This record gives sequence, structure tokens and C-alpha cells, in this order.
Amino acid sequence: MAPKTKYDTIAEIAKRRGFFWPSFEIYGGMSGFTTYGDLGTKLKRNVESLWKEYFVRKQGFLELEAPVINPERVFEASGHLENFKEYSAECTQCGNSFRADHLIEDKTGLENVEAMGGDSIKSMMVEHKVKCPRCGGALKEPTLILTMFKTEIGATGGEIGYLRPETAQAMFLNYKRGIIHAREKLPFALVQCSKVARNEISPRRGMLRLREFTIMELELFFDPENPKCPWYDDVKDTVMRLYNEEMVEKGVEEPLVLTVEEAVNKKLVLTEWQGYFMGLSQRFIEALGVLVENQRFRAHLPDERAHYSAQTYDHEVKLETWGWTEASGCAYRTNFDLSNHMEASGQNMEVRREDGTRYVPHVVEPSYGLDRLMYITMENSYERRDKRNIMHIPKELAPYQVAVFPIVKKDGIAEKAEEIRDLLQSKGFWVTYDTGGSIGRRYARVDEIGTPLAVVIDYETMEGDTLTIRDRDSWEQVKLSVDDLPSALDAYYKGGKTFLELGEKVVRE
Ligand code: GLY
Repeated sequence: MAPKTKYDTIAEIAKRRGFFWPSFEIYGGMSGFTTYGDLGTKLKRNVESLWKEYFVRKQGFLELEAPVINPERVFEASGHLENFKEYSAECTQCGNSFRADHLIEDKTGLENVEAMGGDSIKSMMVEHKVKCPRCGGALKEPTLILTMFKTEIGATGGEIGYLRPETAQAMFLNYKRGIIHAREKLPFALVQCSKVARNEISPRRGMLRLREFTIMELELFFDPENPKCPWYDDVKDTVMRLYNEEMVEKGVEEPLVLTVEEAVNKKLVLTEWQGYFMGLSQRFIEALGVLVENQRFRAHLPDERAHYSAQTYDHEVKLETWGWTEASGCAYRTNFDLSNHMEASGQNMEVRREDGTRYVPHVVEPSYGLDRLMYITMENSYERRDKRNIMHIPKELAPYQVAVFPIVKKDGIAEKAEEIRDLLQSKGFWVTYDTGGSIGRRYARVDEIGTPLAVVIDYETMEGDTLTIRDRDSWEQVKLSVDDLPSALDAYYKGGKTFLELGEKVVRE
């Protein structure tokens, strides 16, 4: 049996505690689909909210929510029908299909085979004698397969539709309304955090490659003759680890370590807007708990790059199980999409400059898979200590902010604890309440689900109106009065106070 990986550990906790698990379990499951339980739903929502703090609220960007199903003409115009394809190899014996580049990677240990292009993929399948991973049968020559889900809109014989593989097209389709709502001023951005679907040939790596997932995308529209980003100064000194196209092509191992500004000035990054979003992205991923040294930016090679992109940098994080893994992509889409939709729809999407000249806006797009960010947060927060699992989920993201435990259920202590739970809930905190088992077992449970603080109601609460709070990360405890509890939690979550500043430290003999 293969050894247990870090992914297996996290997935096991996720399933047992209710973060996420494989969908359709009772029917044997189906790869590429995941279902979120209570904790996962909350963690995912909190990661999305934090992303919006970094990428939407502060800049005043505009949000959008549009349909998942789109008529065929949208993806004809966008180029997806022609290009959104992967090389698939079908088994001559069992009939299963597999992504050819992934099979080659498994056989050879090479990385990013997709970027080598179709001819190399076909010849490498032969050269490395790649066989069916299910039955060992011979595989047919790989062919390009469209990886969008197809459906019919309306009754049988209705119009062909596709589930969107990215939300971006809605920002282009609705661009004319967006610019009105942005008071006719560029630059502006349209943002969507919503579901997309990709009919992956043979998904693997669990949460990292789903057939249906949530994407957080931002389309920033700007004048290519005035590509200034007003917030550039906030990030231009951020130091990044970067591999440009040439370095990726040559397989250079050591990254360039340089500031955003240096990367833009040297034209390694084509626009100031990409530089801005890359710098911001590094800070955001750091806020999920990923150290800067475990982050890097890697340029796509032309064969790997999406059809709409003039330059794409993947923002990668280092995971224990799979090594460097894409957390997001930042693409310079130029005016490719708006021009295509302008031509196909006949709608004019040009903007007039003050000097009377006209142009189709250019677009830079940072795009994040929310499900994998949730997994990245979990993996980075995990610690095994004294035979316990601890999830040091950053406190801003924790599914529950505080646990309330009565030390015992008798002598009115449970009633008092319920009162305190209700009080904290009425003050807006996310509270989990647990009366089951020893206090040690209850601490272990909240450590494993990443609840930063646990409040314990005991006989001293009944007699002297004090309670203790226990810290998930240090396992230290502080004592404070019941009346001070809501303001102490506010100070911890919003006021920047540290745990030991919340009360008097309890010193155990
Ligand atoms: N819009 C980014 C992507 O399709 O991956």
C-alpha cells in the first residue's frame, strides 16, 4: 500500500470532522466532485471574504453574478470551443480515458509535460511505453478532447449550451453595463466568485483538480496607452521569487529574487497591473498561512498558456505531497476577448479618449481556485503535536471563532454555559458548543477543527463570575470575568490584542 501522504492526512480529518468529502458517496463516489460540510462551507466562505478584502473592497471594484450555463455562441466567440482541450489517451482494452500529459509525468517524473506541446506528448507516450494505469492495456494515440460540459437549453432539440469553464466571459459579455456602473471611467474591474465546471478527463489530486469548483476571478480593464495602476506604490517593493519564460524553458533551478518594480521595469512582467496583482497575491497567500519562501511565480510557456493570454504567471505554493502547485494565475488577456465579442455580437465596446482616439480596453486577470486555496490553508495550518492534530487556521479564517464548554453538565453549569453561548452569538461571534466527554477530549476536538479559543465555564464561574479561555496554539489559559468576555473577544479578533493580553494567565502547578 502507498504510504500515507500529507494530503491523505488532511483529507481524513476533513472527512471525519466535516470540512469536505468525496461527493455521491452512497453511490460509490465519482472523482472530481467534492461536498462541503459545515466547517468547510464556513472556511471556504471566510477565504473568499478575505480575498475580497484584498482584491475588491479596498479598490472599490465591482461584483457580478452571471449564469453558469451559456449558449454555444459565447464560447465560439471566446475561442474556448476551439481551444479548451486536453490530450486524452483511450485504453484499447478497458475503454477508460486518461490525460496523456499526466500519464507521462507519472511514468517519467517529469513536470509540466502539458507545456511541451502535442507532438512531444504523442512521441513521449510511445518512447516511454506508457500503458493504461487501470488494466495495463495498450493506449491509442492521444487526441485533443474538449473539456467543457455540453448540455441542451430547453426541451430535446433545444439550443446547445455549455457550462462555463471560467467566469471571465460574463465580465466581457457585461462589460458595456459594467463601464456605465463604473461611471464611464477606466481603469475599473469586474469580479465574480462563483461556480464553474470543467469536464476533466481523469481528475486526480482530490481538491486540487475538481470537475465543478468555485473560481474567484477579476477582470481589470485599462487603457493600454495609460497602463498606470493607482495602487502600485503599495506593492512595488514586494520581493518575489520569479521564473520568467526563458528560465522555465531552460529549466533554471534558482529563481530570480527581485521586487515587483524591478520585474516590471525589466519587462519580465509585461504590465504594471500584473505586477500589482502579483504583489498583492503574495500578501494574500501569506495571510492564508503560507510563508513567502514557499511561494513563487512561474511563467507559462506558449504551449501551456491559454489561447487568450499574452503572458501568464502562475502563483505557486509548495505543498508537501505534490511540490510546487498552482494557487492562482495572473494573465494578460490584452483586448482579445472584448474584440472577439465585439466582432461576434456586433456591439461596439470601444472607449473614446479625450483626444478623440478610440480603443478596445486591455485586460489583466488574476484568477483563483477557491477550493484549492481552502485545501492549501488547511495543509499549511496542520501540526501533529503530542499525538494530536492541530489546525492553526489563521484566526480571521477559522470556521468557528470560539468554543464554549461547561466543565460538567450539573449544578447549573450547563445552563450558565448556554447563557454565555447565547450572549456571544448575539454579539455576532461564531460559536461551537460542546458538552460531550472530558474537557481534554473537547480541547482536542476544537484543536482539530481550528477553533482558536475555548471558553470554559466551571464552579468559579458560578461562585466568582470568572471563566477561563484556552488558546488553541499555545494551550495556555487566561482567566477573566464573564462581563469582560465579549470585549476581550472583540479585542482579540478586531483590536489586534494577543491571547495573553485577554486576561490573567493561569499558572498550572
Ligand atoms: N480564467 C482563468 C482560467 O480559465 O483558468
